[in-house]
Amino acid sequence: MNIVGISGSPTGGSSTDYLIEAILDNIKGHHIKKRFIRLNEKSILPCQACGKSPEPDFCLFHDDMDPIFALMNKADGIILGSPIYFDSVSAQAKLFIDRTNCLRPVDFDSPGGPKLKEPLFRGKKAGIVLVGGEDGKFNGALGTARAFFIWAGIDIVFELEYRTKSFEPGEARRDESVESEIKACADKLISAIESKK
Ligand SMILES: Cc1cc2nc3c(=O)[nH]c(=O)nc-3n(C[C@H](O)[C@H](O)[C@H](O)COP(=O)(O)O)c2cc1C
Repeated sequence: MNIVGISGSPTGGSSTDYLIEAILDNIKGHHIKKRFIRLNEKSILPCQACGKSPEPDFCLFHDDMDPIFALMNKADGIILGSPIYFDSVSAQAKLFIDRTNCLRPVDFDSPGGPKLKEPLFRGKKAGIVLVGGEDGKFNGALGTARAFFIWAGIDIVFELEYRTKSFEPGEARRDESVESEIKACADKLISAIESKK
């Protein structure tokens, strides 16, 4: 079983990073491979809306998205996390999401005009982690993260919203009240993956 966690937080040791890594840590068992990616450390070109089919590749452009596509392709479970920035996901998370547009490829040679094909990642399971302020509005970011997974054919099995009180990086690490939720998210992901097999 392969699980990949992807963080769109630019802050090292952030609550977003911690929550994703803590969920990964709670997924235990034999033959489970877990990977954690910080998008801030990657060089990712923004989507150019090229309007061409990249098949058999996932995208026409080749940069640090290549190994991320490869990991997601192998993964049974994908966790995407982002801080709330201006009521939305971070720029790092949005860059990544836009580049996944061809996870639902288009048949440009269809007789009636371009036609959407089946999502490439159908059957994979996912979780969303969002971190914002106490009065933060999470709906915009939630909509964007959900849109990514739905577009790619991936079932969302948990959504974790964490509200910081101090705005100190990594506050969630010192917050015992979130521990049971972390465990519940891990359990939901693992049981969704296992029930598929
Ligand atoms: C550019 C920027 C925009 C932000 N916009 C919001 C916002 O709209 N709503 C909110 O609740 N918090 C906002 N915040 C606060 C972050 O969501 C908050 O600091 C959160 O803890 C970041 O998560 P992280 O430490 O895991 O990266 C913003 C922070 C930055 C740097």
